[in-house]
This record gives sequence, structure tokens and C-alpha cells, in this order.
Amino acid sequence: MEAIIYESNTGFTQKYAKLLSLEADMPAYTVKEAKKELKKGTEVVFLGWIMGGKISGFKKVKHRYKVKCVAGVGMDNPKNQTGEYLVKKNRIKNIPTYYLQGGFNMARLTGVYGFMMRTMLKSLRMSKNKTKDDIQFEKMISKGFDKVKKENLQLIMYEINKARQNKAD
Ligand SMILES: Cc1cc2nc3c(=O)[nH]c(=O)nc-3n(C[C@H](O)[C@H](O)[C@H](O)COP(=O)(O)O)c2cc1C
Repeated sequence: MEAIIYESNTGFTQKYAKLLSLEADMPAYTVKEAKKELKKGTEVVFLGWIMGGKISGFKKVKHRYKVKCVAGVGMDNPKNQTGEYLVKKNRIKNIPTYYLQGGFNMARLTGVYGFMMRTMLKSLRMSKNKTKDDIQFEKMISKGFDKVKKENLQLIMYEINKARQNKAD
């Protein structure tokens, strides 16, 4: 694998891409930058933020490059999320796929996404029969949080090292 390509809206996926770039000693590019910097068919790792289960940007890169590993970055607790769900939702074929917990920051959300999330938060606040999970979720999105850390990248590093090993053999 030669590079990391990522699509980030509020910065959490970018933070993972930069951490991975240091860990794996590979350059990290946004989808736009990659178009200029990388040849078609380059072997890459792709990281994209999750919107309604879809990994943003994946469609744009999947035919242009050889994507060897994909990760979706979301706000959901990793206990509730599996790579399997992302594989189905994004119709990923034969590419190792992982879920990474990013974070949430309402202040960085603009336009239609900001509107959507503020509306969701409002209705959560007004709802009467809240479950424990609803209360926890309401707290997390109103305060914001950041769960990005290097340790979460272990499985992706494993895929990168495996691909490097296969190339060397
Ligand atoms: C409109 C919208 C839809 C979202 N849908 C999901 C989702 O389906 N699953 C999830 O885990 N997170 C979801 N999120 C949360 C983001 O994926 C999360 O905040 C992520 O860390 C953002 O990464 P970024 O900072 O790189 O843009 C959604 C956020 C927005 C604004």
C-alpha cells in the first residue's frame, strides 16, 4: 500500500488519517488531493466519515484506486458497530473493512448536516419516553466528544503490514 486517502467533514477522520500516516509512514491525501498526487490503480487505504451508514467518498475512490483496506469513521459506540454492517451498506466486495469511532462536534457542522443534527437533538430533548441509551446519546451529541486515538488503528496497521509482507515475499 502506498498512501492513505480520506474524506472528512468535521476533522475526526482527518485526525485518524494523520495518525495513520505517522504510524504507517505513508502520505495521507484528501480525495481531491489524491486526484492530483496519485496515479490511477495506486494501492491505498481509504478512511471516510459515516453518514447514515454510508462511508463518504468511498464511491469516488473504489474504481480509481486499488483500495486494500477501508474504514468508516462514525460517532456510534464500536460495540454497536461492525465492519460487517458497513460491508453490506456500502456493497464492499473483498476488501477488509473496519469501523473506527471518531467523535461529534455540532459547532463544526454547517449547512444541511448541521440542520439535520440540530433538529434531531431538539426532538430528542423533547421526547418523553427516553431510554438510557437515548439519554446517553443526547448528552454526547450536545456536549460533543472525541474518541480518536492511535490505539484504535491496530487492525488497520495489521492489514497494512500484511500487505507489505505479501509484497516482499
Ligand atoms: C448527517 C449525519 C449522519 C451521520 N450518520 C452516522 C451514522 O450513520 N453512523 C455513525 O456512527 N455516525 C454517524 N454520524 C456521525 C459522524 O460520522 C461522526 O461525527 C464522524 O466522527 C465525523 O467524522 P469527520 O469529523 O471526519 O467528518 C453522522 C453525522 C452526520 C452529521
